[in-house]
Amino acid sequence: MRSVIDILDLSTAEIDELIETAGDIIKNPANYAELCRGKKLATLFFEPSTRTRLSFEAAMYELGGNVLSVAGGNTSSAAKGESVADTVKTVSCYADIIAMRHPKEGAALVAANNASVPVINGGDGGHCHPTQTLADLLTIRREKGGFSGLTVGLCGDLKFGRTVHSLINALSRYENMRFVLISPEELKLPSYVKNDVLKRKNIPYEQTTDLLSVIPSLDVLYMTRVQRERFFNEEDYLRLKDSYILTPEKLKTAKEDMCVLHPLPRVNEISVAVDDDPRACYFKQVKNGKYMRMALILMLLKEAGTI
Ligand code: CP
Repeated sequence: MRSVIDILDLSTAEIDELIETAGDIIKNPANYAELCRGKKLATLFFEPSTRTRLSFEAAMYELGGNVLSVAGGNTSSAAKGESVADTVKTVSCYADIIAMRHPKEGAALVAANNASVPVINGGDGGHCHPTQTLADLLTIRREKGGFSGLTVGLCGDLKFGRTVHSLINALSRYENMRFVLISPEELKLPSYVKNDVLKRKNIPYEQTTDLLSVIPSLDVLYMTRVQRERFFNEEDYLRLKDSYILTPEKLKTAKEDMCVLHPLPRVNEISVAVDDDPRACYFKQVKNGKYMRMALILMLLKEAGTI
């Protein structure tokens, strides 16, 4: 049974196809409104979420399907000690496809190995968040016209930010990419991403703590939140949380067509005054997430022979 746990579970050709499908859904939503009639998506979210869970649910409704939802570990039998494996074996009896978020790295893979329906990882700890990456990719494609030759700045918590790890993995498969990694020393990109992806593929990158010095060179600026829930120590979080705050003033030296992304939720990393700048694309990114999740649900249900 095909599941999507990591963005690398999808080939570049499949990602391009999902982007094409999402584009067609945006243009012709009526053509998709009945494709999942009678099918059910279960959303199992053992960690807080607004966008991912609700966009999966909106996606399934817009495909004509239905939704079963667990929102928060305390509302399911996980609170009584039920394993992820038993939970998904059970949910496979009720639903045709599962979207799951869990605080533990690897939980989505355990789910995929035990479910008898496709599982989509909606975020497993600090590991992966492939459908956020699909939303990011669709947004970059629509805003920049393609992926090749871009300089992408990733700013903030590059250590715990799972969306950053997935996005680097995905963009590294395109030609002539260049990354600028902007973070405090303590929140630098983990060496397994740097060594296994950037160095192994000979992809040019620069590491800096100074956003202002590099902002003029960027085509895309991907801001991230400092991930409070992954810190062992509240003092460290408080010291680092406001390391980068993007303001209209700081955008003055950026390219006119630079695209500002953020997976959201935002805490303080982007001033609300930036929202009116035409370069602010993070709410378009939210909307794009729903279309890419629709495309992915369709792809997996078709492969499973469910639709
Ligand atoms: N981007 C994202 O994963 O948002 P939520 O945590 O609200 O789902």
